[in-house]
Amino acid sequence: MIRLADVHRSFGMNHVLRGATLEAQDGETLTIIGGSGSGKSVTLKLIVGLLRPDQGRIWVDDVVITNLPEDKLFEVQKKFGFLFQGAALFDSLTVEENILFGVKNLRPDLMRSGSSIAVNKLALVGLKPEVARLKPAELSGGMKKRVGLARAIAHEPLYILYDEPTTGLDPIMSDVINDLILELQQKLKVTSVVVTHDMKSAYKVSNRIAMLYEGKIVAVNTPEEIQATDNPLVKQFVTGSSRGPIQMPVRAFS
Ligand SMILES: Nc1ncnc2c1ncn2[C@@H]1O[C@H](COP(=O)(O)OP(=O)(O)OP(=O)(O)O)[C@@H](O)[C@H]1O
Ligand SMILES: [Mg+2]
Repeated sequence: MIRLADVHRSFGMNHVLRGATLEAQDGETLTIIGGSGSGKSVTLKLIVGLLRPDQGRIWVDDVVITNLPEDKLFEVQKKFGFLFQGAALFDSLTVEENILFGVKNLRPDLMRSGSSIAVNKLALVGLKPEVARLKPAELSGGMKKRVGLARAIAHEPLYILYDEPTTGLDPIMSDVINDLILELQQKLKVTSVVVTHDMKSAYKVSNRIAMLYEGKIVAVNTPEEIQATDNPLVKQFVTGSSRGPIQMPVRAFS
């Protein structure tokens, strides 16, 4: 279980999270939607302890991570796999070295079977063993995402955080990634938090969808409920309309 209670986080004058409250239950895939810059990536980083909140509490299982010292936080971080926005592979390392990077730090006990971990995780994400020898520059965008995912699951996390897993991919590759998210939930019994703009993906992979707006979670619904919602904020966002209560800054042409 992951729980945020009244979480605030600012960067200078930019008050990004203003009392966000949210819970991901064991085994579910919870998706966070919201506009660009609304604080979705910040929320994932707070959950995994890469950022600390200014106010409020965050639980991972029964542990409040908010003020944990670094060594205790590191123990909690072992439970997480993180697919970063843009995959974030190390260009100078091979795919295998990329996949094993986190295992070395987080679960050195698993390293005895190093090469087979890489091959197994590549198979889980639908890539052939030969890919292990390649460098990131030799991969397509879709392959990079899959390698990023193989790396995220290599140390056998209980929680997977996905930041924009389908952004920048063609519709078919996006759906391959959606299927992988569903498959990992079923095979590995993980609890996942997904951040996406891609509503098709959100509807497919999520048990529940939460909308972040002006620093707060303003709605949490099942995909079916969201599609039938009367909430004007949610309705405008999921239908992608420029007209409604959400005002985007408009650049004036002169
Ligand atoms: N480390 C940081 N230092 C300063 N400001 C930051 C930092 N991280 C995020 N921000 C600011 O916090 C706000 C929210 O950022 P965040 O990356 O969470 O947005 P997002 O919802 O993920 O947007 P997108 O959909 O474009 O990825 C932005 O205004 C961003 O500039
Ligand atoms: Mg983001």
